Amino acid sequence: LADPTFSHAVIHWQKQHGRHALPWQNTRDPYRVWLSEIMLQQTQVAAVIPYYLRFLASFPTVASLAAAPSEEVMAHWSGLGYYSRARNLHKCAQAIVSMHGGVFPGDPVLLEQLPGIGRSTAAAIAAFSYGTRAAILDGNVKRVFARVFGVERYPGEKAVENELWLRAVALLPEAGVESYTQGLMDLGATLCTRNRPSCNRCPLVQRCVAYATDRTSELPIRKPK
Ligand code: ADE
Repeated sequence: LADPTFSHAVIHWQKQHGRHALPWQNTRDPYRVWLSEIMLQQTQVAAVIPYYLRFLASFPTVASLAAAPSEEVMAHWSGLGYYSRARNLHKCAQAIVSMHGGVFPGDPVLLEQLPGIGRSTAAAIAAFSYGTRAAILDGNVKRVFARVFGVERYPGEKAVENELWLRAVALLPEAGVESYTQGLMDLGATLCTRNRPSCNRCPLVQRCVAYATDRTSELPIRKPK
C-alpha cells in the first residue's frame, strides 16, 4: 500500500494549486488550528471564516475561552449550527487548561481523548500544529480515496472505513505532512467534488480507478437505504 509517488503528487499539487491564505493557515498555534478544525467539521470554509475571526477576537487564547461563561461561547457560535460542537469546544478548552497546563498535546492519541475531537480531527491538529505524521480521513478524503482506489462499497460501513484508514496511514509521506494533509483536504474540496469533479486538473488522475472506469459519478457508493 505504501507509495511515495502518491504523497509526492499531492504535495506538489498543494504547493502550486492548493489554498494557502485561509485565516487558520500560516500559523502553528494549536489553539487556532483546533478552533478551525472544529468549526470546519460540518461547515463550509466560506461560512466558517467570519465566525472564526470573531471568535478569535473575543477569545484569543485557550485560557480565555476556558474562563468564558458558556452563554458567551454559545452566543459566538449562534448561526453555525451543530451546537454540540460549541459545548464540546468549551469543555475541551477547560480540559486543556486543567489537564494539560493550557498546552495542546502534539500526540493525536491524547488529542482524541478530548471532547469533540475524533481520530481525523486529532490527526489534522497534530499535523498542522506540530508536524506530527498522522493520517486524516474526513468526508472529503473518503471521497478522494473511494474514487482513486475504486472502492465499490459504502465508505460509512465499518469494515470499509477500517480499510480506508489503513490506506491513509500507509500513504503518509516521510516528510511534509502539513502540505500533504492540506493537499488532500483541498483536492476533496476544490477538484474531487461530489458532483462534476475536475478530473482534467487532478494530480491523481493517472492513478484514479474511478476515472479510468468512468465511475466518478457512482463513487463513492451512496448510503444504502
Ligand atoms: N476542512 C477541514 N480542515 C480544513 C482546513 N484546514 N482547511 C480547509 N478546509 C478544511
